[in-house]
Order: sequence, then C-alpha cells, then structure tokens
Amino acid sequence: MCGIVGYMGDRKACPILIKGLHRLEYRGYDSAGVAMVNADGNLNVFKCRGKVDDLEEYLKGKDDSGTIGIAHTRWATHGVPDNVNAHPHYSESENIALIHNGIIENYRVLKDALIQKGFNFKSETDSEVLCNLIEYIRNEEKCELAEAVRLALNKVVGAYAIAVLEKGNNDQIVAARQSSPMCIGLGEDEFFISSDAASIIDYTNEFVYVNDGEIAILRRHEPLKIINLENKDAEFNITNLDLSISQLEKGGYPHFMLKEIFEQPDTLVDCIRGRVSPETAQVILSGVLDNREKFIAAKRIIFVSCGTSWHASLIGEHLIEDLCRIPVEVEYASEFRYRNPIIHSDDVVIAVSQSGETADTLAAIRIAKEAGAFVYGICNVVGSSIARETHSGSYIHVGPEIGVASTKAFTGQVTVMAMLALAIGKERGTIDQDVYEKIAKDLLVLPEKMTEVLRQDSNISDLAKTFTYAHNFMYLGRGYNYAVALEGALKLKEISYIHAEGLPAAEMKHGPIALIDIELPVVVIATSEKTHEKTISNIQEIKARGGRIIAIIREGDTQIKKLADWVIEIPALCDYLMPVIAVIPLQLLAYYVAVYKGRNVDQPRNLAKSVTVE
Ligand code: F6R
Repeated sequence: MCGIVGYMGDRKACPILIKGLHRLEYRGYDSAGVAMVNADGNLNVFKCRGKVDDLEEYLKGKDDSGTIGIAHTRWATHGVPDNVNAHPHYSESENIALIHNGIIENYRVLKDALIQKGFNFKSETDSEVLCNLIEYIRNEEKCELAEAVRLALNKVVGAYAIAVLEKGNNDQIVAARQSSPMCIGLGEDEFFISSDAASIIDYTNEFVYVNDGEIAILRRHEPLKIINLENKDAEFNITNLDLSISQLEKGGYPHFMLKEIFEQPDTLVDCIRGRVSPETAQVILSGVLDNREKFIAAKRIIFVSCGTSWHASLIGEHLIEDLCRIPVEVEYASEFRYRNPIIHSDDVVIAVSQSGETADTLAAIRIAKEAGAFVYGICNVVGSSIARETHSGSYIHVGPEIGVASTKAFTGQVTVMAMLALAIGKERGTIDQDVYEKIAKDLLVLPEKMTEVLRQDSNISDLAKTFTYAHNFMYLGRGYNYAVALEGALKLKEISYIHAEGLPAAEMKHGPIALIDIELPVVVIATSEKTHEKTISNIQEIKARGGRIIAIIREGDTQIKKLADWVIEIPALCDYLMPVIAVIPLQLLAYYVAVYKGRNVDQPRNLAKSVTVE
C-alpha cells in the first residue's frame, strides 16, 4: 500500500513527482506529500490529508522549486490519515526527510529508545521513527547519509521501501527496499524512483528493480550504486519495459474500472496470443514445457492467493482436478503462511497475483520454497516481486489494472489457468483429446463471446438502477460458478459498500435461506450444463419464499427464463470457460450500482490496489 516516487535530474522535480503520485494513487489515497531540496539547499516538505488533487491545490504559492525530490501517497497503517501523519516526515532537526511504504514492526522499541535520547515525535507513524533513527545515527557516527541509512536499516524489523533526502544536498537520494516494491528508472543523467515502473513510464523504459535488503544510492552525474545491508556492492540488471502511456489513461471512459471491463476482449487476445494455435488448437505454455518433469511428478497442487486472485484460484482447482487429475488445495495466502502447512518437495505451489506484490502471497511463496516445493507464478505485473521470486510462471498479459476493483486480471487469471490445465493435462496424459480440442477452440473464441456479453451494457445499467437502494445481495453459483458468485459479491461490496454474500447455491438451504424475502435480490449464476437441474431447484426454493432472482443464463435457456425475475443471457461455451464470460455482467452490475450510489468507483473507501502489508 502507499506509493512512493522520487526524481533527480535537470528538470523541475515537482511536476514529475505529482504526475507519478497520480499514477500511484491506486496504492493509497488518504493523504499525500512531497519533499524537495531547492537550489539554496533548503529542504521543503509539503503534505496534506486527501488526494493528490488536494496536494496540488495546497502547493499553490509554495516554493516547489528544485530538481530533486521525493513524494508519497498514503494508505494509513499507523495513525489516522491527517496532515501530520502524511509523508514525507521530517527528522527532529528538519535536516532529513523520509517517505516510507511498509511497516516497521519494532518501531515501539526504537521510538522509546529515541525518546530516551531526547527525540520528540509529531506523528503517530512508524515512519517518523525510522527518519529520526537515521538522524540519530548520522549525528552519533558522524557519517554520510547513505551509511546512516544502512546502519539504521540494520536495526529495523519489518517491511519498507524508503527514500531519503537531506537538507543542503541537492545531489543525492538514498532509497532502500525490504518486502515492499521499488524500482529505479534510468534517464539521461537523471534518476526516477517508484513503487511501480508504470508510474514513470513517460520518462524512461529502463528500470532496475531493487531487491530486498538493498540500498540504492542515487548521486547526480554518477552511475547508480546499489549496496546491501552489509555494505557490499550489489550487482543489478537493467530491464526494458514495453508499456504504452495510453494503457495508463482512461481513454474516454468515466472510470478506469469501466475502461478495464470493456478492454477484456482485447486483453484476452493478448493473454492467449502465441499460446493457443488458431491452426492446430494446440496449447503451448512455455512455463509448463520448461518444467515438464515437475508437473508430471506433482502429487498435489496448492494455490496461494488473496481476494479476487483467490476466487480465480478456486476455478483453477476445478480445472486442474478435472483435466489433470492432480489433487488441488486453494489457500488464502494469509492463512497458509501462519498455519505451519505441510508441504512436500513434490508439491507444486501456484501463486496467483495481479500486482505481484501482495505481502501475504509473497510470504507464502517463501515458505513453499523453503520446504522445497516448486513454485509457479501467475502474475500480471511484469518484473514484480512475485514474478521474480517464483521458480517459473506465466504472465496474464492484461496490461496495467488501475481501478481498485480487479476485473480484467480475474478473466486473465482464469484464462491462464485453463491453458495451464490443458498443457499439464496433455503432458500427464489425463485429458481426453476431444475435450482438449473443445476447450482450446473455445479459448480462441472467448474474446468475441465476451464482446457479445458487453453489448448488454445498457440493459445491465438499467437493471442496476432497480437495485441501487438494496441493502443486501446474495450471489449463488454451483461448481465453477461458485467462485463467480464470490467474485460478483466482492465486486459489489468493495465499490458500492452494499453488503453481499456469495454462496454455493446448495448451501443456501443450510441456513442463509432464512434471509430470503422480497427485499433481497439474489443473483444466480446458472450457466452450468452439469448442474442445470439442481440450480433450477435452488431457484424454485427462493421463489417459493418470495425472493427476487436475477439469473445469468446460457442463451436460449427458456426454463430459467420463465422462473427468474430478470435474466441476462450470455453465449454458450464449455462449462470450463463459462466463468470468464459469466463474471462480466456481475462486474457491470457492481459498477453501475456504485455509480448510481455516487461512490468513488476507482478509489473506494478504505481500500488500496496493492496490499503490501500483512
Ligand atoms: C478485489 C481486489 C483484491 C485483490 C487482492 C489480491 O477487487 O482487487 O481482492 O484481488 O488484494 O491482490 P493481487 O492479485 O494483486 O495479489
């Protein structure tokens, strides 16, 4: 959570920092701030509660000069979102300014020790403690800033991506990383720092990803220097990132979320491109081919993920058990990591993450690697921590997802899982050739089927008006569609703040049926051929109790059409792939309900896109 950005070069720093913050606002948006050293060596910090727009307003008339600066957009962990807790933090003497993304776990002990030494604290944050610790060490040891940062970080337990400036020095930024993302962008005699390379892609496409336990020392007119916490030089590679600026703009849509929903036919083309042959319907996934033996020998597959990625993993479980006959477990990464899980060396652990930075998923990967499992990643963000820490993997290639509610990542993840199941099933000889070809051919037509669903946009918008004032929603699905029900419910609650519950349809009668009345809209995802009759029974049970049904059905399903109060018909595909298009009406329904309720769709309250804290 939190976004950090930095700049040093010949240009004025402030506009670059502000633009970077706007791009990083998806990571947190409760307060924002900048620190710059001007030509006279003054270290100015400007920060306020609110969004980056509020900071821009606040900066009017202030000294925003200087060609060096750091900036931060916050998602509060320690201390309420207000002007004081906003970053950057000054050290006590105001000689040092620091921005921080992460959590310093031992900050209380450090704070008490610093108070004993006479330090005073203005904020409630753990970050101010680190800033003062650096100042204390700098004064005690009479050392350079970079050395003070290194010594301070040796005393810190926790997660951080930090950048530090000092008064009187407009030629240096010191930055460091432990478990929170950070990259350095390289320009012509200029440096950029960011939590996310996409935020600075306007200026450079050459990046160095800072690794855990490394400190980057950026000095004007000098090459980048990276050291580790033991003060040894660290080697680094320059990565070229192929990303266009248009991918980061709204492109005429009122919200990123709507743009990202409508992008899905194209993102699926990118996801499938080069992996399913249109001529032979063969699926080629290099990650599977390169690790053939691991997948053939796998006794079990364990998915680790969170949120929407966890929902996609539930669909992965069905796909792999059905097509590869390998037992699968799906774990919340946050539970897995603290449960002392039993992991064998012939387990394959699949980590699923859009951002590739989710702290719990990263921790789960590390546990699995330590236990000797082979770890495969399904990620979106190229070069992200999870992509780098897994043994191998497949990118979903859906482009930057900026709306906080995940949409195109979900459909990309499920599509990759379908290709993965086909590729592994083929290698293991567990998949019938006809089934293989049917799914592969359906994968190729997925984008056009999705376009057909998106044509119902205005009907779904009308439907959403009917439900804008509902207080609760229930979503039901069976088999593959249970995960779709969970995902539909999550979309609605996170952006409209309406309570919604996703359930396996048959579970309803074990308790939740008590909730059914005319006030409760029930969304039934009824596209599965396999469970069609059973789902009809569930619908009848709801109708018998006065419930109102919105059903997502296969085109031409007259039986459910007669029973439901509203239907959204979607084209038919094999059951394995129906979730990829069945989720589209639910994304649109959530979107329009939130819009009619006047919610901030792209930046819903209390949320941030990338959860880099536990
Ligand atoms: C929901 C949403 C979150 C994320 C979750 C995992 O719309 O976006 O539930 O899915 O925080 O994030 P990643 O996939 O980046 O690991």
